[in-house]
Amino acid sequence: MIHELRIHALRNLSQASLSVTQCNVIVGKNGSGKTSLLEAVFLLSRGKSFRHHEPKRYIQHHAKSCAVWACIDHQKTIAIQKQLDSAGLASTLLKVNQTTVHSQSALSFLLPTLLIDPTGMSVLEEGSASRRQLLDWLAFHVETRFYPTWLSYQRLLKQRNALLKSAHLPTAELVAWDRELSVSAQALHECRQAVFGRWQGFFGAMVARLLPDYEGQLQLSYQAGFDVQAGLFETLKSRLHQDRELGYTRIGAHRADVVITLKNTSEQGDRLKEQAVNVLSRGEKKLLITALKLSQLQLICEHLHDIKPVVLIDDVDAELDQRAVGVLLDTVLDLPCQLFITSLQEATAKQVQDKMAQLGKDEEQFSLFHVEHGVIKKQENSGE
Ligand SMILES: Nc1ncnc2c1ncn2[C@@H]1O[C@H](COP(=O)(O)OP(=O)(O)O)[C@@H](O)[C@H]1O
Ligand SMILES: [Mg+2]
Repeated sequence: MIHELRIHALRNLSQASLSVTQCNVIVGKNGSGKTSLLEAVFLLSRGKSFRHHEPKRYIQHHAKSCAVWACIDHQKTIAIQKQLDSAGLASTLLKVNQTTVHSQSALSFLLPTLLIDPTGMSVLEEGSASRRQLLDWLAFHVETRFYPTWLSYQRLLKQRNALLKSAHLPTAELVAWDRELSVSAQALHECRQAVFGRWQGFFGAMVARLLPDYEGQLQLSYQAGFDVQAGLFETLKSRLHQDRELGYTRIGAHRADVVITLKNTSEQGDRLKEQAVNVLSRGEKKLLITALKLSQLQLICEHLHDIKPVVLIDDVDAELDQRAVGVLLDTVLDLPCQLFITSLQEATAKQVQDKMAQLGKDEEQFSLFHVEHGVIKKQENSGE
């Protein structure tokens, strides 16, 4: 969990230095810098923003770099700096305990971060990439074999794609790579499947709480991206001609997906099976996204013992109805995680404090911050 947080030149946050506690509520008007604060924490953990991919969008206008630094668990420090060169290209500098590290995974591992933003519809409405990332984020934190397996799969895939593009295809060499790639795909699939099985249970229970009308009807299913029974090797062999034309490998574990289906039977016995995204209203989709994220959090909290994940909750009271906000707060406040909750209204802070009191939580773990034009101030007497 984060104890001290410093932000430099990220959007309208020129310079911020805050001491934070387990539960932090950030209140401010539109455009004050609330989401930017969450973006800074997310950037530190994941190395990217959830709003824009290009660093020049979140680095403060007229600045050449932005930085986020945190002291976690009282003894470790982690930091990220994104810098633009004269051509506007960005480079990244990462540090753990003041020593440069070369992989974002070192920071992600120390600071698992989950964003709950019910308006983030890409998970439901776009291609498989963002759903695969949800599953892989869980697998990264829950299954120790996952990350090395994922890295080796990516490396092999890159090799194969490079071979596919070569003028004279070295067939014998390709077969050797294909064998390794299919072994790696199988291992990746097994990690994902194990984690998925556990996630599914939490998801079902969360749907029952957030979308009770759909209890037992919304189903999460996992697709490996290739025919697991036959093995990827056979597919690669039979598709070689097409892949060579495309210039890349189309089928494989890099195409895995998580599908959300609505299944029910009418009183007349008619069966409905449809992708949830095609049926649910916009409000229901927000609840579904919240159920996906909260069920991930429950699983990760059950698994991690020494590390408290950080949960970023953006503007939820503007997006969800009061009952759903209640379920959300009850769930997150009851889990061993650190919270950053933004809101337009001061009343949210009161609601969170009341819930904490009901749950018998230490009131010193609550902090209230006000943001105005990029300046963040902690309310006195909160989180002392
Ligand atoms: N690269 C940037 N440099 C400086 N300011 C920015 C940049 N990008 C966005 N902003 C400004 O930052 C402000 C804060 O945005 P945001 O954090 O989304 O506000 P909130 O979530 O409180 O509504 C906005 O007024 C926006 O115009
Ligand atoms: Mg905002």
